[in-house]
Amino acid sequence: MSDRAVDKSISVLNSTLQPLSILVLHGPNLNLLGQREPGIYGSLTLSEINRLLEEEAIKSQVKVFSVQSNHEGVLVDTIHEALGQYQGILINAGAYTHTSVALRDAIAAVNLPTVEIHLSNIYRREEFRHHSYIAPVAIGQISGFGVQSYLLGLQALVHILRKDKV
Ligand code: DQA
Repeated sequence: MSDRAVDKSISVLNSTLQPLSILVLHGPNLNLLGQREPGIYGSLTLSEINRLLEEEAIKSQVKVFSVQSNHEGVLVDTIHEALGQYQGILINAGAYTHTSVALRDAIAAVNLPTVEIHLSNIYRREEFRHHSYIAPVAIGQISGFGVQSYLLGLQALVHILRKDKV
């Protein structure tokens, strides 16, 4: 058996032994979902979104762990701590999407496959929301589908992680 074939068998074995773990990061003000501008962000609360993500995770046979913070440094620390614990990151960085070089650098530093999420379509909104610091370090971005953005993002990330592994 070639080295490559052995590597492939080991990663197949690992993936059957341990489910993929995905870190879901919610940035500032997303704790107010449900009451915050429902015409833009919908009426689901963050707990309801997290519950739907958990259901999607069960269907996909992966684990998700969600963290929300209004503080840039906490989000940066959480991304650093993801190394070795999670295989991928799903992030809605909220307003930090448009301002944070630190978050961008943290994602680049840990080099974990990352999918960027937005509930609203940021390109149909104010000009300042059209630029994302996260996009260049993410695999891709899903924006404008409400809670479906998260669920589609999780599916896409799992697909990419499984494809990379096998
Ligand atoms: C958001 C879009 C951002 O522009 C905004 O600052 C948010 C939420 C979204 O999910 O649509 O807080 O990331």
